Amino acid sequence: MAQTFSKVLVAGGAGFIGSHFARLLLREHGIAAVVYDKLTYAGNLDNLADMDGDPGFAFVQGDIADAGALALAAHGCDAIVNFAAETHVDRSIADPEAFLETDVTGTYRLMQTALELGIGKVVQVSTDEVYGDVAAGSADEDWPLVPSSPYSASKAAGDLLAFAFARTYRLPVCVTRGSNTYGPNQYPEKLIPLFVTNALEGLSLPLYGDGLQRRDWLHVEDHARGVATVLFEGEPGQAYNVGGGNERTNREITDIILRELDLPASAVKHVEDRPGHDRRYSLDSSKLKTLGWQPLMAFERGITQTIRWYRDNRAWWERIKSGEAFTQWRERWYAGRE
Ligand code: NAD
Ligand code: TYD
Repeated sequence: MAQTFSKVLVAGGAGFIGSHFARLLLREHGIAAVVYDKLTYAGNLDNLADMDGDPGFAFVQGDIADAGALALAAHGCDAIVNFAAETHVDRSIADPEAFLETDVTGTYRLMQTALELGIGKVVQVSTDEVYGDVAAGSADEDWPLVPSSPYSASKAAGDLLAFAFARTYRLPVCVTRGSNTYGPNQYPEKLIPLFVTNALEGLSLPLYGDGLQRRDWLHVEDHARGVATVLFEGEPGQAYNVGGGNERTNREITDIILRELDLPASAVKHVEDRPGHDRRYSLDSSKLKTLGWQPLMAFERGITQTIRWYRDNRAWWERIKSGEAFTQWRERWYAGRE
């Protein structure tokens, strides 16, 4: 039986996927959304601008690790969906501490707060990276958790805490594990928006190692619908994979970007590989499909539309890329790699 909700707290909703999810709740399901977000370097109120002023929408700035502030913001909400996280693998290699604070301690405090408030459903948004390298076949939800980076290790800890809260305290919490997501509004530190915006700026595209690592690409709207399906239909204590079914090597992604923006292969710069770099992710999403979800965006259409979005929305990413958080990161990470 599908659950219904009237007001949902969307933690981390000023980021990439969370902002699309808040819009989906509000516009497609008529459910009020309270976006609760710390506004780290990755949080961006521009992502929510079109919802500002909607009576069903509210924004509260706060940290998921601050239980008191979270409890106040969640007052009157009947569900919590947690997108809030530190999310970039390379930053987790350079500086893991913040990942433990938010993805582990923050996730724990969020679940503890949900328990104390008697929240009707919690969805902990996680990632396929908790399975680590998948050399062959596709990971289902029972696949061993063998995370490789401080990011994926901290996300795996969040998953395990969610299952412990479900079993020990009967918290009605589900975990979703999405694959690599792409689309409008993604912070330009991740592969696709970094390469597209670098190309638009006339900068090189820094491809790690041999570029033959494979990822399973999922459009952000399909990811948001997958999380919504789990919110409405997911069984507490269960994990659900949300995979796009579009495996591509990083070289293939790079070639599409070069072709779409009419650039030569010399725009690519081969740089030192990421330490601990996972070669391949691949998800079996049949469990979520039994709840009626399937990805709707064809990859070729989705990537073309996404490249065009960054071309047509320069102000959105130029503001980010000219800011201190981005330029300091670029100097710190890429200077030593080129
Ligand atoms: P993002 O980095 O774009 O956004 C994260 C948001 O969380 C930001 O708005 C940030 O301000 C907020 N935040 C960070 N720490 C916080 C804290 N302590 N308290 C409150 N807010 C905080 O991330 P995204 O790509 O939208 O990812 C969202 C979720 O989906 C994450 O949990 C991530 O692990 C998961 N995920 C992402 C992908 C992907 O490819 N992007 C794939 C699978 C799963
Ligand atoms: P990323 O978008 O960081 O996602 P994740 O590491 O979570 O999968 O990276 C996607 C792939 O692109 C990954 O194999 C690393 C590679 N990559 C590059 O080759 N160059 C880059 O500058 C970045 C950021 C990523």
